[in-house]
Amino acid sequence: MTRLGIDFGTSNTAAALMAGDRPYLIPVEPGETTLPTSVFFDPVREATLYGNAANRALIEGREGRFMRALKSVLGTPLMHERRVMGHERLTLIEVVARFLATIRERAEAATGQTITAALSGRPVRFHSTDDARNIRAQDDLAQAYALAGFSDVAFLHEPEAAALTAQPLDDGTYGLIVDIGGGTSDFSIFERAGNGVRIIASHGVRIGGTDFDRLLSSAHVMPQLGRGHDLKNEMGPGTHLAPNALFNDLATWEKIAFLYTPETLRTVKLFRKLAVERKPFERLYDVIESELGHDIAFAVEAGKIAANAADARIDLSVVQKGAGIPLTTVQMTDTLAGAVAGIGDAARATLAQADIPADRIGRMVFVGGSSLMQPVQASMTDLFPQARTIPQPCRDRCGTSARAKA
Ligand SMILES: Nc1ncnc2c1ncn2[C@@H]1O[C@H](COP(=O)(O)OP(=O)(O)OP(=O)(O)O)[C@@H](O)[C@H]1O
Ligand SMILES: [Mg+2]
Repeated sequence: MTRLGIDFGTSNTAAALMAGDRPYLIPVEPGETTLPTSVFFDPVREATLYGNAANRALIEGREGRFMRALKSVLGTPLMHERRVMGHERLTLIEVVARFLATIRERAEAATGQTITAALSGRPVRFHSTDDARNIRAQDDLAQAYALAGFSDVAFLHEPEAAALTAQPLDDGTYGLIVDIGGGTSDFSIFERAGNGVRIIASHGVRIGGTDFDRLLSSAHVMPQLGRGHDLKNEMGPGTHLAPNALFNDLATWEKIAFLYTPETLRTVKLFRKLAVERKPFERLYDVIESELGHDIAFAVEAGKIAANAADARIDLSVVQKGAGIPLTTVQMTDTLAGAVAGIGDAARATLAQADIPADRIGRMVFVGGSSLMQPVQASMTDLFPQARTIPQPCRDRCGTSARAKA
């Protein structure tokens, strides 16, 4: 039986299967072994697009519903609500199922085999503190796999999948997988066992690159759209701060799609009317009406990646011709300090679970796109100064469980 290894990521997805004793990465997009975990429903053509095609449709400004970071919604009531997607009414479970079915079909096309079994990666913790939600998240994902035509699904913690592919250490020290993705940060400590490795401890926290994007957007972009600005009271004199919830949703990848309702539009129209300073709320109205939330999120993500190398700017020309906001490396480090500290805490908790001192970690393997972030790397080197660092083998991102033995 062919079992397909699937790394269903918050931001990117990859799949692999064993060809003989070697993993074979499926070309899930023409010439590529990862695809963005994105979906676009086109109501005009009655078509659903996935991956790069979905991202392109959004960037070209085509009419339709775009969604990304759906993995972050797993385990929440939103997964089971039926809503209009393009020309259909679907639950998000069904949307995830269609995405997974597309992966299955592409793997079948690439290999000529029929595939009904999957080994799926999962974060150690989908949700950091809510245990019931954490369990529901895997149940939701299992349900999506079943709907996608997989009759047999096993799950593996994402950092453990990465550890299984690591070179065993021969000096008696321990290895640490540091997998910082789009939605979660996951850690596994492993040691040598024969010719392979044995997992000693795994832990994770729901902080990832999409949280970096949210924090940067909230702090640097949302004030341009009215966050922190005053509205006049509807009744009587005085003013109050524009409510923060809407700005928070607009800065959060998985929430943006749900803002495009007549109700939100009515709310921002009222904000515009009550604004002490009208300009930011005019921009906000345009962003909601023209559905530019994801375009802003992409611009923030690009600004983040640029500012990780050198002082940069967030290009907001999609909101207003020529508009942009400077983002220096120092500003970014400041804005992300709390989130980076949370990732450090999770690494320390993994160590405590393994019950070994930090100086016994001889090697750190960085996996996942956000492990390229300088503040994250600095924090990990601080915590584990003795550890040799193994950079991730791929440039932009790395599949984790996809490379595990399927
Ligand atoms: N060069 C880079 N510098 C900084 N961040 C980057 C870079 N390239 C990608 N990222 C970020 O990495 C994240 C995606 O990483 P990855 O593909 O490993 O996540 P994922 O596997 O989809 O998510 P998860 O495992 O958390 O579900 C995104 O937030 C992206 O912005
Ligand atoms: Mg990942």
